[in-house]
Amino acid sequence: MLSAENNRLLTQVGPGTPMGGLLRSYWHPIAGVSEFDAKPIKQIRLFGEDLVLFKALNGEFGLVSSRCAHRGSNLAFGFVEEDGIRCGYHGWCYNRRGECSNRPFEETVAPNASRLKTAKLDGYPVIAKAGMLWAYMGSGPAPQLPDWETFGWANCYTQVIIAEIPCNWLQCQENSVDPVHFEWMHNNGPQRRAGDYGPYSPKTLDLQIEDFEYGLISRRYREGTDASTPLWSVGRAILWPNGWYFGHHFEWKVPIDDTHTLFVNWSNLHVPKECEPYVQERIPTWYAPIKDEQGEWIISHVGNQDIVAWISQGPIADRTRESLGASDRGVVMLRRRLLEDLEAMAEGKDPRGLIRDPERNVKIELPCIARDDLMNGLPRTEMLRHQVMGPYLREFYSMSGQPAEIKAEFERAMSVKQTSLELHKFVPT
Ligand SMILES: [Fe+2]
Repeated sequence: MLSAENNRLLTQVGPGTPMGGLLRSYWHPIAGVSEFDAKPIKQIRLFGEDLVLFKALNGEFGLVSSRCAHRGSNLAFGFVEEDGIRCGYHGWCYNRRGECSNRPFEETVAPNASRLKTAKLDGYPVIAKAGMLWAYMGSGPAPQLPDWETFGWANCYTQVIIAEIPCNWLQCQENSVDPVHFEWMHNNGPQRRAGDYGPYSPKTLDLQIEDFEYGLISRRYREGTDASTPLWSVGRAILWPNGWYFGHHFEWKVPIDDTHTLFVNWSNLHVPKECEPYVQERIPTWYAPIKDEQGEWIISHVGNQDIVAWISQGPIADRTRESLGASDRGVVMLRRRLLEDLEAMAEGKDPRGLIRDPERNVKIELPCIARDDLMNGLPRTEMLRHQVMGPYLREFYSMSGQPAEIKAEFERAMSVKQTSLELHKFVPT
């Protein structure tokens, strides 16, 4: 249970809030690069700020406040120039740093007048990496954008999946340090709802959460296995402060505002050895629906099941009314570490997990079950039998709503015809 004050402290992420400041100290994935093939400007809200993300004609990306400094018109209805974005109302133009580079009429009538000091928008650096656009919205010098080794694995098919989740970021991230939910949320529940009243799936026997350089490590084992399982011996990395790494995918929960979160999933699968060499021309991005055509929450796929759990906790989970137990060790640790980071920042120190040294930021290896297989690939028959890789060859089980053209492209890359998984019987690792 948390005090009301700490619950506010950990969940309020708008401008000027301590947690907003903490989270802004990191680079966050905010969109897919491929989204900008069709349209160069996108409205986006992050940390309670309304912004436009744009691709200038020179190919550089920018992220600036959405309201023109002139009279507040939305730049999303403007257009891009060689090195910036121009308001559609009176043509004021802004560069990637948000500086007004041109005010056409003012410059016509008074070419020598100094520029209005107020004609400056907030502008944040954006970097394209691994098919995603990453923003740094912090106030101090930007840290390194982590060069996770997995981003550079060769012969892989990658896709970026994004969903907008109507709840606070923290309850989404608490899910990652809560391994007991796997058997209930992803196994027993789906099985019962499908009318299968057979035995429940193996239960978790032990769990442990530890610190590591870039966040936390979660370890667990279930009935039928023991501490020799890689899920215990290697564990799974929770990346500070809002990421999670599985080897076959990363996910991040990026605050839009206090009650909305951008869920970003970067999924990656090595092609079968028979299909090498494989070079992916373009990493596609797709937006996953979280409700079906009847307006019901989608709960068929693993990621959707998680999302519904988070949303069902309310727009901001009320942590003053919880009954925490032994399964919540990780949840307690996550909150404690965040509160410690807030204290560290108040003393002028960095929060945990930041990478400042560019020499350290080279192909950083993360704890990963089945790393060798995921990185180097396997022949198709072995891949199909593989506990981690095999299911993906049958169905994209992470999120519902994968567009047909992406499924087709994946099938071509893998040279397989996907059938379907019986999702209610599927036990994700
Ligand atoms: Fe889950």
